[in-house]
Amino acid sequence: MSEHQENSIVHAVEPLTDSFHRLTLHTPLIAAAAKPGQFVMVTCGPSLDPLLRRPFSIHRRIGAEQIQLLFKVVGRGTRLLSELRPGQALSLIGPLGRGFGPVLADSVCFVGGGIGIAPLLFLADRWHRSDQACTILLGSRTGDELTQLASEFEALGCRVETATDDGSLGHHGLVTDLLAPHLAHIRKVYVCGPHAMMATVAELCKTAQVACEASLEAHMACGLGACLGCTIHGADTLYKHVCKHGPVFNAEEVAWKR
Ligand code: FES
Repeated sequence: MSEHQENSIVHAVEPLTDSFHRLTLHTPLIAAAAKPGQFVMVTCGPSLDPLLRRPFSIHRRIGAEQIQLLFKVVGRGTRLLSELRPGQALSLIGPLGRGFGPVLADSVCFVGGGIGIAPLLFLADRWHRSDQACTILLGSRTGDELTQLASEFEALGCRVETATDDGSLGHHGLVTDLLAPHLAHIRKVYVCGPHAMMATVAELCKTAQVACEASLEAHMACGLGACLGCTIHGADTLYKHVCKHGPVFNAEEVAWKR
């Protein structure tokens, strides 16, 4: 078994924007076992309130003993996380789930929307070590949510294109609009973001006969396959659990329209 329950120590909490925060945790066992696309279940503070852990994809591994989580403040749990201080302890279970498959050794494209960009930095970091070029398409509501992340992908050698809902950075429109010109030149797409965005990417890839892996988001109470709260419909009509069978699926495994 490669998953651990570990008391991590907060190293830093860094606000990237008004709502995006990045949490760096010292967690040697989980960091050593983590693979891009996997996630951790996290308590939201030092007390038992709120009781339920929250799932977060692993944003990046720093050295051998730290991981980073990227999160958006959307409620009480994430607000408590944003208020953590260095030195505080946080209980983690992970790494959990099925991550991204091995990155192909030639042209690929990453597509990230909103907070779904989080796991792609870990994946791009692995890609960077293979010395191959890649393109990443980043979409969000506004440019300020993308500026720092875009520069970090560029530092890993990725060619970055951006799209924003308000037109404040890059293409004024959907990030999926940026994908079509690339499909003739790439062999695989890795996508994470809102369901509708990933469904569009899956459809475009299917039509172009380009392989696609998608990292799904779901409400998760346990993260361990026990509560059945993260069920989705598979393309084979069977139910799948995002926490156990995913969160990364081959796009053709998912019934996107159900
Ligand atoms: Fe409980 Fe998936 S989160 S079964």
